[in-house]
Amino acid sequence: MKVVCLLGSPRENGNSATVARHFLHHAEKFGAQTESFFLNGLNIKGCQACNLCKTKYESCVLNDGLAPALEATFHADIVVMASPVYYGDVSAQLKAFIDRTYSFLVPDYIAKAQPSRLTERKKLVFILTQGHRDPDWFADILPRYQDLFHWTGFATTHPIRVVDVYQPGDVDKRPDVFEKTAALAEKWLAGENA
Ligand SMILES: Cc1cc2nc3c(=O)[nH]c(=O)nc-3n(C[C@H](O)[C@H](O)[C@H](O)COP(=O)(O)O)c2cc1C
Repeated sequence: MKVVCLLGSPRENGNSATVARHFLHHAEKFGAQTESFFLNGLNIKGCQACNLCKTKYESCVLNDGLAPALEATFHADIVVMASPVYYGDVSAQLKAFIDRTYSFLVPDYIAKAQPSRLTERKKLVFILTQGHRDPDWFADILPRYQDLFHWTGFATTHPIRVVDVYQPGDVDKRPDVFEKTAALAEKWLAGENA
């Protein structure tokens, strides 16, 4: 099993990255191969709407820092997206990546029963950390993306939301989060490599 992780925070060791790495650590214990991309450290562009991925090529033509991340994601079994909540959404870094997964959609995807170029449907872990302590705030983020993720080729999306974490390290005081994250890794990976 291959697990690819997109880290969307500018804090390399912030709350969202800490949770994501915990998932990867447990996935490795069950034999998974893991690869992480710290998006903030890459030279990245948003989608240019050139539509060449629909007219002439089968993948994104931009040759920037996101190209290897898209390629790795294409071949992954499980994808982890981790982001802080910024102004009620994912970070700009992760949003740029998500927009570029448009290149995974086939031409005329709206009318197709199989809109995605991903042949094997993948699992997605969607990690969001937020400063606000009320879980009702920003609960709309995943539902807004979920149908699009399904089109893109993710059969299952499992959210891990952590509220009331503001400073880097705040999540370290939340053992419940780490227990749930480890349990998810075990559920999705145990047995696969046994
Ligand atoms: C530019 C910016 C915007 C933010 N917007 C929100 C927000 O809309 N809602 C919220 O609850 N927290 C917000 N926060 C707080 C972060 O979501 C919080 O600190 C999070 O745990 C950071 O995760 P990280 O350590 O992985 O970067 C914001 C922080 C910054 C710097």
